[in-house]
Amino acid sequence: MTTFSAPAKIILFGEHAVVYGHPAIAVPFSALRASAEVHKNNPPGQGLLIVAGDLQKTIRVEDAGNVLAEMSRLILKQLGASPPDVPISLRSTIPVASGLGSGAAIASVLGRVLSAVVNHPLSDDALNQIVYEIEKLHHGTPSGIDNTVVVYEQPIYFVRDQAIQRLKIGQSFQLVAADTGKSAPTRISVGDVRKLYEANPAKIQPVLNSIGQIVEQARQIIEYGNPDALGPLMLQNHLLLSELTVSSPELDALVDAAMNAGALGAKLSGGGRGGNMIALVAADTAEYVGQALLAAGAARIYHTTVTA
Ligand code: PMV
Repeated sequence: MTTFSAPAKIILFGEHAVVYGHPAIAVPFSALRASAEVHKNNPPGQGLLIVAGDLQKTIRVEDAGNVLAEMSRLILKQLGASPPDVPISLRSTIPVASGLGSGAAIASVLGRVLSAVVNHPLSDDALNQIVYEIEKLHHGTPSGIDNTVVVYEQPIYFVRDQAIQRLKIGQSFQLVAADTGKSAPTRISVGDVRKLYEANPAKIQPVLNSIGQIVEQARQIIEYGNPDALGPLMLQNHLLLSELTVSSPELDALVDAAMNAGALGAKLSGGGRGGNMIALVAADTAEYVGQALLAAGAARIYHTTVTA
């Protein structure tokens, strides 16, 4: 049987403001992936098991309080199916709780494999809806950007509650992503921005509007194929995210290190407070920027190209 897989994702611009109806831009990060398949050579009669290879753990679909079991139950409910008698093998190279969309990718592959096993084909649109429901369980009030970019595996210009808009990449560009090594639940940073907004909308609304304007400019630059011009916009977006209190000393230190090493721009990516940042690099500085990020305390770095 087929192996189903889904990519990680990187938000390039617009996180947090996207929750308030502003646009955001995200791309799949295809080198990091979650995958699921029916586990071979297992005797029947054990019910639905999730064999989580990376955790070296086998989970029963009935297990209370387990996130993978909970995801599987929700998917089966949406499919209108009872648990099949198969073991599912699940793997992922996407770090968890670090703004790379690990939860959405895992939910997506579980959805695809379970729909195949119970013989209930799912369109991408239907799967996207299911993964969004699962994101709600873990993120509180997600905008839907993570599930959308992960399920369709396409660069997207995303506005909450609107039809998905694929983004044309006019010219390829290179990024280095760096992980602070601190996991930070998106639910908390999103909740804190909400409190900030409610306490002082007159101050926060303009910050969100400015982020929205940056996204519009970035979209044109990306489509037009002039990616070097994204650098200053990334820095502006990072400063606005700091005003929303979602940066952290670690993220700021990595942004500074990338810029000092010759990156064209840098910003936090995703929920913030920890997790990942991204730096835009020219081909001849990519390696040096990566080394500088490690020297500045990054737990891991990833090189990736957003391809035209
Ligand atoms: O899952 P993360 O950490 O990449 O964050 C998603 C982006 C937010 O805008 C912070 C939240 C959302 O639901 O859009």
